Amino acid sequence: MRDVIVAGNWKMHSTPADAGDLALTIAARTRVAGVVRVICPPYVCLAAVRDALAESDPDVAIGAQNVHHELQGAYTGEVSAPMLAGLATWVIVGHSERRRDAGETDALIGRKLGRAIDAGLRPILCVGERLDEREAGVQVAVVRRQLAGALAEVDAGRLAEARLVIAYEPVWAIGTGRNASGRDAAAMSGAIREALTLPGQDLDPELIPILYGGSVTSANIAEFLAEPSIDGALVGGASLKADEMAGIVARAGLTATARGAAA
Ligand code: 13P
Repeated sequence: MRDVIVAGNWKMHSTPADAGDLALTIAARTRVAGVVRVICPPYVCLAAVRDALAESDPDVAIGAQNVHHELQGAYTGEVSAPMLAGLATWVIVGHSERRRDAGETDALIGRKLGRAIDAGLRPILCVGERLDEREAGVQVAVVRRQLAGALAEVDAGRLAEARLVIAYEPVWAIGTGRNASGRDAAAMSGAIREALTLPGQDLDPELIPILYGGSVTSANIAEFLAEPSIDGALVGGASLKADEMAGIVARAGLTATARGAAA
C-alpha cells in the first residue's frame, strides 16, 4: 500500500520567530492516523520547526524546499544535501518556481535528486506542464520529458530505496485558484506511472506515491483523493493556514482508512 501524504510547501513565507508556532498549531490540528505529514519551511526556519515539533509531534516530517547539486564549494548562498542533516529528512526538487526563476533544467534536477538520495533524504520530485503546453495538448509529453531528464542518471534501485515521491503540479494551477480536475490529475498520474515502467528495473511504479499540487484547499482535496491513483497533495498557500490543513489532512485520513481496510 502506498503512503497517503500531505506535504505543505511554505515557499518564502514565515520567519524563524514565527515558524515554530505555526508548525505546532498545524501539527496539533492534523493528528490523523495513517497520513504522512510533511512541513517544508524555508531553510532558515528548519531549525525552529524542528525544535518546536521535537517533543509534541515528532512524527511530522520536515522537508527542505530545494537542495544544491554539489556537496560543497564556492556556491554563495546555496545549501547542500549533507548540510540538511539533523534539520530535514525530506526535500522538494524540481519545483516549477525554481525551474522558472532559477533556470533549473531536468538534468540539474536529476543531479539534485542524486545528492538528496545520497544524503538519505526522501525526495519529492515535482513535474508539471505550463498552460500553453496544456492548451497545445502536449502535457503528457512534457511530463514524460521532465521525468526522463531528471531520472536518467539515478539508479532505479536507489530511487526505490529512497522511496521517491512524485508531485504532479501543473504550473497553471499553482497559486491561481484554478485547480486541475480530479480526472485530469488522475490521467496524468496514470501517464506518470506508465512512464516510470522501465523494463528490467527495480522501480515498481505502483509503489511510488503521486501527489497532486496546485491550488489545493480543504474544499477541493476530496476530488483528488477520490482518485485511487492519487496519494495525497503538495499544498502551497493553504499549507500556511491551520484550518485548511486540518480539513485537508482529515480528508486524507479517510482515504488512508479506506485503503487500509481494502488492503
Ligand atoms: P498553491 O497550493 O499555492 O497553488 O501552490 C502549490 C505548490 O506549488 C506546492 O508546491
